[in-house]
Amino acid sequence: MRATAVANPNLALVKYWGKRDEKLILPQHGSISLTLQGLETRTTVTFDQTLDHDDLCVNGEPARPTGRVLGLLDGVRALAGSACRARVESENSFPTAAGLASSASGFAALALAASRAAGLTLDRPGLSRLARQGSGSACRSIYGGFAEWLPGSRPDGSDSFAEPLAPEEHWDLPVLIALVRSGAKEVSSSQGMARSVATSPFYPAWRRQVDQDLDLVRRAIAERDLNLLGRVAEENAMRMHAVAMAAEPPILYWSPGTIQVLEKVRALRLAGLAAYPSMDAGPHVHVLTSRDSVAALRVELLALGEVSEVRLSGPGPGARLLDVAGP
Ligand code: PMV
Repeated sequence: MRATAVANPNLALVKYWGKRDEKLILPQHGSISLTLQGLETRTTVTFDQTLDHDDLCVNGEPARPTGRVLGLLDGVRALAGSACRARVESENSFPTAAGLASSASGFAALALAASRAAGLTLDRPGLSRLARQGSGSACRSIYGGFAEWLPGSRPDGSDSFAEPLAPEEHWDLPVLIALVRSGAKEVSSSQGMARSVATSPFYPAWRRQVDQDLDLVRRAIAERDLNLLGRVAEENAMRMHAVAMAAEPPILYWSPGTIQVLEKVRALRLAGLAAYPSMDAGPHVHVLTSRDSVAALRVELLALGEVSEVRLSGPGPGARLLDVAGP
């Protein structure tokens, strides 16, 4: 059986930063994100009786499946009562090394393609739980538009999955993605959050603040209030990075271009443009803006020496199935 699915990455507006269970990928707290339009991972999974191990190919190149890919496939096999191995072919429409959250779109597409190829029809919460076991943020990319990951409290993770907050049509919210010049990422998000929980003196303060940020961002989305959403998303991103910078040893995800964009965005905002930055665990900057500020903002960002590319995005669709072929 074979199935192909497509999913998009997401930008965290209230970040997930810290696990309470490393193995099941259960978070310390809730998070909210926006699934992004125009960036896609397309994944085909084929369960094949003749294979003696799981086989992975990323952007046309053979790759060694990571423990998380194997774990997700094992999870699907357990649900389907099958021992059959799989061939996984995955392609990104954006540069994988660019640090644009390919793990979220990758594991959301893998969860949908693998479950359907195994003959399972999981509901959205079930898909979200499955995707979560590959990468936490992937559980939110199952949905289009705005989604919230409910942390849950059960030790087995059965109540830890994402729910939709508002579909992509709810709000025409442009997001400009400024790609800045940078080398390979040194500390993965998983390592960064584990070190932050274990050693950052700011972690308890971060935990105390998150629920208030979640309340405000939920309200901003419901009321389509860009100033409120942008303000809270920017503060939440800066705090997450401050928590990481205070870890032992310190973690800095930024490069000079990150600061260049942050300073420019602040200056433009003082001059009256709607622009609010947010960075996930990497140097690139997502800028939330309004339709009438997009053109000017784009020109200003592209003029910065450390910015190599600016992509226009906005609310995008959830994970979707392209094709299923049976035996
Ligand atoms: O899902 P992971 O392990 O790639 O972690 C994502 C962490 C952040 O992008 C920084 C925050 C988030 O909520 O997506």
